Amino acid sequence: MTWSPSSWRSKPAKQMPDYPDKDAVRAVEERLASYPPLVFAGEARALKKELARVSEGNGFLLQGGDCAEAFAEHRPDAIRDFFRVFLQMAVVLTYGAAQPVTKVGRIAGQFAKPRSSDVEVKDGIELPSYRGDIVNDIAFTPEGRTPNPERMEMAFRQSAATLNLLRAFAQGGYANLDNVHNWMLGFVQDSPQGHRYRSLADRISESLAFMRACGVEPSTTPQLRSTDLYTSHEALLLGYEEAFTRIDSLTGDYYSTSGHMIWIGDRTRQPDHAHVEYCRGVHNPLGLKCGPSLSTDGLLELIDILNPKNEAGRLTLICRFGADKVLDHLPTLIRAVEREGRKVVWSCDPMHGNTVSLAGYKTRPFDRVLKEVQSFFAVHRAEGTHAGGIHVEMTGTDVTECTGGARAVTADTLSDRYHTHCDPRLNAEQAIELAFLLAENLQAEKRDRTSREAA
Ligand code: PEP
Ligand code: CO
Repeated sequence: MTWSPSSWRSKPAKQMPDYPDKDAVRAVEERLASYPPLVFAGEARALKKELARVSEGNGFLLQGGDCAEAFAEHRPDAIRDFFRVFLQMAVVLTYGAAQPVTKVGRIAGQFAKPRSSDVEVKDGIELPSYRGDIVNDIAFTPEGRTPNPERMEMAFRQSAATLNLLRAFAQGGYANLDNVHNWMLGFVQDSPQGHRYRSLADRISESLAFMRACGVEPSTTPQLRSTDLYTSHEALLLGYEEAFTRIDSLTGDYYSTSGHMIWIGDRTRQPDHAHVEYCRGVHNPLGLKCGPSLSTDGLLELIDILNPKNEAGRLTLICRFGADKVLDHLPTLIRAVEREGRKVVWSCDPMHGNTVSLAGYKTRPFDRVLKEVQSFFAVHRAEGTHAGGIHVEMTGTDVTECTGGARAVTADTLSDRYHTHCDPRLNAEQAIELAFLLAENLQAEKRDRTSREAA
């Protein structure tokens, strides 16, 4: 079974758009294949190395961003606000875990969406479902919903511009640890639940003051004034992915250059289908969504296909069972992976198994999200394995898409600022609240490990 960037084309593929004009698709894909890559293979290898360390129990993966990026939402403020909240979460986690935190955005390429139904019916009219801005328009009109390949070009250009700004923020001084800590103090001051977080924030302040007294501060220490932020998206629209699959001149290996990390969705992980075929051949770090329908044997088969050499950092298992189903699924999967000696990063997506309808909106109760996270950590502590990461849908602004949180978004207030193009996201305060909860859990895991090692 030889692999090539196009070998997926001979396999069945779910969740792909049916473009009316195939010649137009080919023309766009050819053009995309001639464009510069978005990321460099060396960066994907650096990320893989960081994830290898996470898989060994030293480090934590923070992955998050929009459910779906949108052309109409491409604003510098939105990118900046996301970046700021993401860094705040990372600082809380770094301090809580006393471990390096690897930051991976669902950004600069997260445009294609799988849907539960191929069609949407409104007022007796049936049209194709919205599949993300890279495929069609969210507007419910026949023109809007017809898949248009030119949108791939727009998605590429938006990804390039977004990545450019992220790189500038990461390296240009905005990510300075003093800045991030000041934002944090602002959060603690303004949040109705701020008192719960004050002691951790105070300890970070003391640590920074101590470091400064020792001469370690952003002006003297590059690590304190810049950061690394990697990009990721679901590798769903395979024609687009193929166009950005390039041979790395340093190693001669194929890499996806549309983002640093790509993942396979829960609906497209059939071992003999196109998405698994595409992903197995590129050398990037991969994510695999693991939902309630994944059996133990099914998981081991996918691990064999996606990571046959058992390379640490190659594969992240992104578990999304739903708050009430973690205990039914996660322990058996962990035991099988441990028994077979497979190296993986275990990450928790507490969003996609906890979606409900309320007042006509698709929403997620924040307490369900927190419960799934708690269960995920509890299972790993019981199994003696490392809860290695979190995968969330979030924004940097104060949207009202998930209910609950310190400021208690309710059924009545969902409509105030419900802006998502697809799934409901955590707002800035909910995201930071989650980071504090994660920090507490990581500290508990660390205490367990220390006492086990001492025993
Ligand atoms: C997603 O991450 O937006 C998504 C569709 O997830 P899943 O494949 O887990 O349903
Ligand atoms: Co989603």
